[in-house]
Amino acid sequence: MIGKRILVGVSGGIAAYKIPMLVRLLTKERNEVKVVATDNALNFVSELTLQTLSKHKVYTDMFLPYEESTTEHISLSEWADVFATVLLAFEKKIFFAPAMNTAMYNNQAVQNNLKTLQSRGVELIEGEEGELACGSVGKGRMAEVEQIFESIDKYFSQAEDLRGKTFLVTAGPTVEQIDSVRYISNNSSGKMGYALAREILQRGGKVSLISGPVSETIEDNSNLNLVKVKSAEQMYEASMREFAKSDAAICSAAVADYTPKQVFSGKMKKKDQSLTIELEPTKDILKTLGQNKGKKIVVGFALESNDEVANAKKKLSSKNLDFIVLNSLNDKGAGFEYTTNKVTLIDKDSCVALPLKTKQEVAKDIINKIVALL
Ligand code: CTP
Repeated sequence: MIGKRILVGVSGGIAAYKIPMLVRLLTKERNEVKVVATDNALNFVSELTLQTLSKHKVYTDMFLPYEESTTEHISLSEWADVFATVLLAFEKKIFFAPAMNTAMYNNQAVQNNLKTLQSRGVELIEGEEGELACGSVGKGRMAEVEQIFESIDKYFSQAEDLRGKTFLVTAGPTVEQIDSVRYISNNSSGKMGYALAREILQRGGKVSLISGPVSETIEDNSNLNLVKVKSAEQMYEASMREFAKSDAAICSAAVADYTPKQVFSGKMKKKDQSLTIELEPTKDILKTLGQNKGKKIVVGFALESNDEVANAKKKLSSKNLDFIVLNSLNDKGAGFEYTTNKVTLIDKDSCVALPLKTKQEVAKDIINKIVALL
């Protein structure tokens, strides 16, 4: 990490005293650093210290008097490559290193907020347990500045590792119409697939995200090709088309295994007798990709409720995959609607069970494994 522009944000807490050391570490590597500090932060650390170490004025006011306002001030967010604090509007990578007392840290509201930020791709640099300023011992201590530096450094070294690579990702459920208003579908939220697409984009790759109907959204990006589909058949067609241009495919969609043989046109009338809808199998997208993959990488998902590993291994070989991501229905906090997931990565030689993580972190693990294979 040399010659980068880093915006460091500081808010009011005792851990602010460590920030001058972080600024010093960052500038030593010829990175340019500017500091944005809240008024309360400057009660803990002096403006002069931050200014001297960063060699820039410290930004404290949202609105400067007219004569002092410069385009630089307005475009601070455009200036920087990364911002190392919590903030709302910044389009590049954000890191945050929270510091607070253990009870506050463990509070469900704080934990939920941390998860929400992470699900949006913001990177948490968690501190270790230790003695806190309030005298108690526990979680909440800010990460050491060396650890913060390392996280940012690691980001820059892997930031562009997918440049020149194109991925196909399927996500969400499919919708199989029975008649004009009724359908067969499932509860897939698309969160896992969207997290994968975000991770690919963040690391400089291109992605065709083939998505069934979901409420999950993804920011516009010139490297993103978002293809919205409904039925398994449409997802199949789009996947075949996009796979031709891809280096790797990850099928995280919950594709319907069956679809009504005939779609009733209009709305079916209720009758005084039982109703049978004949279903026929859909095409297996993942299997087709696996069978035609050549040197490309193909990764699948398996959601299992019993004999999980054995069943996933069967799918690994029958669908000719490089590896499979196993979700167990028996794990708490894992599955369709959660922002977290607990998965086991299985290839022909290894089987690695990961702890419960956010879907964004799981996406990172999956992409890292693909990078190793590519
Ligand atoms: N999949 C697919 N196309 C289908 C069905 C499934 O691409 N028509 C993909 C899913 O995206 C997932 C993987 O296959 O990556 C696992 O699907 P799953 O439904 O668990 O496997 P099935 O082969 O359908 O077996 P079963 O439902 O009996 O467990």
